[in-house]
Formats: sequence, C-alpha cells, structure tokens
Amino acid sequence: MVMHRIYQSENKSFLVSSCPDRRCGARPAIPNVDSGPMSHDRASAWSLLCEFTKSQPLRRHGLAVEATMRHLARTSGVTGAAEVETWGIVGLLHDFDYERFPTEADHVFRGMEILRERGWGEPVIRAIGGHAFYTGIPRETPMERAILAADELTGFVGACALVRPSKRIADVPVESVLKRLKEKSFARTVDRTYVTRGAEEWGLPLPELVALVLASQVPIAAELGLDGAPAADLPDEPAPPEPPAP
Ligand SMILES: [Fe+2]
Ligand SMILES: [Fe+2]
Repeated sequence: MVMHRIYQSENKSFLVSSCPDRRCGARPAIPNVDSGPMSHDRASAWSLLCEFTKSQPLRRHGLAVEATMRHLARTSGVTGAAEVETWGIVGLLHDFDYERFPTEADHVFRGMEILRERGWGEPVIRAIGGHAFYTGIPRETPMERAILAADELTGFVGACALVRPSKRIADVPVESVLKRLKEKSFARTVDRTYVTRGAEEWGLPLPELVALVLASQVPIAAELGLDGAPAADLPDEPAPPEPPAP
C-alpha cells in the first residue's frame, strides 16, 4: 500500500509519497466546472492545482516534481520551451486531485476526468494516468516514463534533506539517499518499487537518477523549505516562478 504522507520534521512538513490505497467505495461528486474559455499553460496548471489543493506540502510537492520533470526533459534532449513546460505541467498536476479524492478508487481517475472536461491535452492526461501502477496505464512515451521516475524519488530526497543538520537539499549526497532507500523504517510510506521501477523505465542507473533529482531541487530549495528554513506559503496567485535549470 502506498499512501500520501506528510513527513513531519520539527515545524516543517513535507510530502514524501503518493498514490493511495484503493479500498474506499465512495466516489465523491466532481465539482462544478467552469465551462468558459480555458487556457492550458503553466499559470492555468498552477491555478487548477490550487483550486483543488489547499495543503501547502501538496502544493510544494507539485512544484518539486515539476522541477524534476523539467530537468529530466532537458537532460534527455527535449529542447523546445513549450515541450519542457508540458513536462513540468505533468509534474505540477499529477496529484492535483489527491486532496479531494485520496483513495485508490478515485485518485488519478477523477483527476483524469476533470482534466478531460477542462480540455487539457491527452499527452498530459495520459502521463498523469500512468504515475500510479494501480491505474494499469502503461508508460510508453518519455514524458510518461519521466513522471514515474520523478514522483516518489522527489519526495524522498526532500525527506533526506530534512533529517540533515543543515536541512539543506544542497548538502544531501547521492550515497546517503541510496542508503536511506535501503532503510525500511525511513520514510516508510515511500514504496521503493516505484523508485526502482522508475529508474529502470527511465533507463538510468539509480545513482544517476538520484543525482539528477537532487540537482533539480536546489534552485527552488527555498520555496520547498529545503534550504535550511521553513518555506513561505505558496499562494493561489501568482504562480511561483518556473523552476530554473540547475
Ligand atoms: Fe506525487
Ligand atoms: Fe499520486
């Protein structure tokens, strides 16, 4: 069973895992959707995330996974700014429905329905659909494989940062992440099979993927609360700046 869990460290909290148990029978109603003109850029993705997600750790998780997705895009040869943004949007939105629909019966499925209703593109919807094994949606494109590689590991490296004396992601060595992954009691809600399958499907040895994920978080460490101090709240507007390339 894999569940979202907020990792608590002193006054900070940090999301370390995703993809909940699928055992709840109830299916909450989809909220009314705005049928007016819709845009599908990064700002509208942030706005959709905030509409459904009041939890600051979950907003930070979206931003953190966006940074990883953008870095995976660039390092795998994606050069167009629009395409890099699309990869980032998949990261921002992959859990946008989780706060409202946290069970495996709903999370991801309801999100996909809402994204379709609001006119988001199928590549984004399909990539989000494949981030949890239980949906049964295979990951066939690089962007679909990237979200699996990015999601759990991004949360995990954040947890690794918060147990260091400095509480800075920039101080986390790859080796300590690899060691922590072998410690079952550490961030135990992170299902390690997501991490190992993510690296396999992405096609990189795990230490190299860990290094990429760590690097992607450093430029936005302050926004994530991973630069030695608690993060400021991320408001509904404006969208936070695009995560810079490491
Ligand atoms: Fe996630
Ligand atoms: Fe998820």
